[in-house]
Amino acid sequence: MWRYYMPTKVFFGLDSVKQNWEIFSSLGKNALIVTGKRSSKENGSLDDLKATLQKANVNFVVFDDVEENPSFRTVRKIVEIYVDGNYDFVIGLGGGSPLDTAKAVAVLLKNKKLKVEDLYDPSKYTDALPICAIPTTAGTGSEVTQYSVLTDDNGFKRGFSSDVAFPKVAFIDPKYTLMMNEGLTRSTGLDALCHAVEGYLSRRATPISDVIALQAIELIAQYLPKVLQNPNDFEAREKMCLASCLAGVVIAQTSTTLAHALGYPLSTFKDIRHGDATAAFLDVVVDQARNEVPEKVEKIESILGKMDEFLKNVGLNVSVEISDEELEIWVQKAISAKHVQWTRGNFDAKLVRELYERVRKY
Ligand SMILES: [Fe+2]
Repeated sequence: MWRYYMPTKVFFGLDSVKQNWEIFSSLGKNALIVTGKRSSKENGSLDDLKATLQKANVNFVVFDDVEENPSFRTVRKIVEIYVDGNYDFVIGLGGGSPLDTAKAVAVLLKNKKLKVEDLYDPSKYTDALPICAIPTTAGTGSEVTQYSVLTDDNGFKRGFSSDVAFPKVAFIDPKYTLMMNEGLTRSTGLDALCHAVEGYLSRRATPISDVIALQAIELIAQYLPKVLQNPNDFEAREKMCLASCLAGVVIAQTSTTLAHALGYPLSTFKDIRHGDATAAFLDVVVDQARNEVPEKVEKIESILGKMDEFLKNVGLNVSVEISDEELEIWVQKAISAKHVQWTRGNFDAKLVRELYERVRKY
């Protein structure tokens, strides 16, 4: 048995925000924009959005202080500031962090008695304010998923999942991604690759997600090296945006798997970008799947060659200092993560320890 569900209306292409101002009017009169400190101001997306909302006669306020790896604290702060504002919808603008924050805020502004911790018990809520997602990176796919990953009060990343957190509408304009520097381009592109590959190899893969995953892998194999070579190649940027969106549709069906769970502590405790931290373990996710689904692994390798070589060729290099104590906590956390059940192969404590040793700097 499998299902396919992805209810987000997607507008894709140059000036897709400005050209569709009527969509914003249809969402209501008052909007809360959630974004980060800098990039949405630098890449023109915030100006585009403001002008579009003005044309659509929508009043808006802007919260522009979402950090990378957004915390419970930030979500609480936003809800506290805007709880009495009578907003009709929430717009997440930026990378995965503002988008995921917007999802949490949309649930909490609709369900005012709930706390951020309650997001992890979806039986406690059945609706959210409408969410509009405008990604300005090409990687997370958050614009088409029901997931939001937040950092809890102990510093651990925790994802919640609810169908009410699917954005109602997403606007994807590749021009906003032109400003990304090399490191962010690589990391976000690799995040999309992880979504596609993990989803394709997941025990929850479906016939529809497989078709979409393969298309995403092909696009990334072709266009990630290109966009790293030439950051101003608009076509390559556009294809990476498409790949990211497709890979988001994949994980909306399959979830992510163990590469994500393994990468989380590297991002929250060591400041390694999410896509790099995750991709550091992607070759092993592929190798471990070889016995169970050899035809799928062969298919991936026919598109991008050996995964470890592809990752090396695009410049992935993760190396961090890890204390013995951290190592043990991370190993226990990873092998007890829900992702394990969906990941093919045998990821026991011994293997996970070896994998963290592989990225350990002495
Ligand atoms: Fe991811």
